[in-house]
Parts: sequence; C-alpha cells; structure tokens
Amino acid sequence: MEEGLSRFGVSMDNRLLEAFDRIIRVKGYANRSEAIRDLIRDCLVSEANTESENEGVGTVTLVYNHLVRELGPRLTELQHEYHHAVVSTLHVHLDNHYCLEVMVVKGKVGLIRKVADRLISTRGVIHGKLVITNIAKMATAEV
Ligand code: NI
Repeated sequence: MEEGLSRFGVSMDNRLLEAFDRIIRVKGYANRSEAIRDLIRDCLVSEANTESENEGVGTVTLVYNHLVRELGPRLTELQHEYHHAVVSTLHVHLDNHYCLEVMVVKGKVGLIRKVADRLISTRGVIHGKLVITNIAKMATAEV
C-alpha cells in the first residue's frame, strides 16, 4: 500500500459509539482517530505475538511472599537459566512479606512465553502477568 494518510467512514450503532466516546474521553484521547489507531496497533501486536518465531520484547510482573522457603533463590535460578532472555529485573519490597518483581524480557515470542510461564507457575508466586510488545510492528504503525 502506498504511504500517506487514508480516511475511511465507519458505520455503527449509536449506543456503541456513545459508549466508545465515553471511554476514550475518560482515557484522555484527543479524538476518535487516535483511539482507533491505538486499537489497531494493539491488534497488530497481539497478532504478531501469536507467532512463536517472531521477535518480541516485554515485561513479566510477579508478586510473591519472600518468606516462602526457597522461593527467592528459585526465581533467581530461573532468571540465570534464561539469562539471554531476561534483560533486567526491578525488585520492590512492598511490605514485610510481599515483593514485586518486574523483569524485562527479550527474544523470540515462544521463549519469552516459556520464561514467563515458568516464573509465574513457580510455587509461592501469588500473581503474575506477561505483556509482550513488538518493535517491528511499532515501526510500521507509527504516526
Ligand atoms: Ni523484597
């Protein structure tokens, strides 16, 4: 497709559009176009992240109780095992018991998912979430 800007009309139910307008106002979008561009970018990234061979970068967020026996050393051991994928780790002591850890992960999507699954499924991890983005898709989705 040639470069440049395209305009297109979208037909939809009034109630659906009103609900959308309410949400984008709360989120702070300047207009519908910017909100729709973000939705399309998210769709492209999600699609790219279904292919395990694609390159991705993301974050793994973990919450755990550091008093659980051997949990801290086990999580560190896993990060060493996947040291090519785990770029950096941020550790926050939330209170007397709980720790928050955010790891930046990079590599093939399949590997990133595997590392995240192993960390999140470790016994004693209370909550975990992986977010992957895609640099290549971002490059084609700027504007
Ligand atoms: Ni801690």
